[in-house]
Amino acid sequence: MTERDLLPTRQPRPRTYLMCPPEHYVVEYAINPWMDTTTPVDTALAVKQWDGLRQTMVDLGHTVHVLNPTPGLPDMVFAANGAFVVDGVAYGAKFRYPQRADEAAGHRAFYEARDDYRFVAPTQINEGEGDFAYLPNAHGGIALAGYGFRTEPAAHAEAAEALGRPVISLKLVDPRFYHLDVALAALDDENVTYFPGAFSEASQQVLAQLFPNAVIADEADALAFALNLVSDGHNVVINTESAAYGEKVAAAGYHPVMVELGELKKGGGSIKCCIAELRD
Ligand code: ARG
Repeated sequence: MTERDLLPTRQPRPRTYLMCPPEHYVVEYAINPWMDTTTPVDTALAVKQWDGLRQTMVDLGHTVHVLNPTPGLPDMVFAANGAFVVDGVAYGAKFRYPQRADEAAGHRAFYEARDDYRFVAPTQINEGEGDFAYLPNAHGGIALAGYGFRTEPAAHAEAAEALGRPVISLKLVDPRFYHLDVALAALDDENVTYFPGAFSEASQQVLAQLFPNAVIADEADALAFALNLVSDGHNVVINTESAAYGEKVAAAGYHPVMVELGELKKGGGSIKCCIAELRD
């Protein structure tokens, strides 16, 4: 018997996702340190990589809804930023930068057209799942929320009020990791993975207290956008730059699935940024 045989069985749970194809994706403005307007973007390649990601999620047994992309909104491919959905309640996004402001309407229309979700309009700046994560079985169901670069702390309180769940505020301190979802991810219903250096000392203490079994990533993992992952509780979908990190989640009993998404990194995003989870 090997050490791996003694690990808990990580069970996948079927999920519902929302994605938006990068048909209008370019880097024509820079609102995070990864964006460089002088580096050309291959939009056709981005669409091809994105479709590989969509197909991977379908092949894993998940439902993927597709949002229509709007011309002139190049970052709309980063669908995770459009809302934060818990128990059928969609707390809408209010983007930090004017270049992305109009994306919120497309997401709102998606939820308002469906009976299975109740949309709550935000008054505070927040970028949806870019800065919110949800753990349904941790401490009875808690949300983690980032602030420091994009989402306002006042939105954390607004989300708690909209969703009826405790929201734990975590301070992001490194501009390269400007959203929570490039610094931390839910691996399953109760456990997380994160890069401590992206958080303030105090927030590192909070995370260590809440998640003693977390899978800890290092700076190289975080820089590869390994933490910008999507997990169904068993399959952990990461980008192909994150092979070293893949071994860490495998050692913890999960199954890494690699997808090439390099063109999207030029916009400052990877797997998770492209996928919003719709929790009924
Ligand atoms: N260019 C986008 C921005 O700066 C990237 C968003 C990435 N999305 C994410 N969920 N981290 O807003």
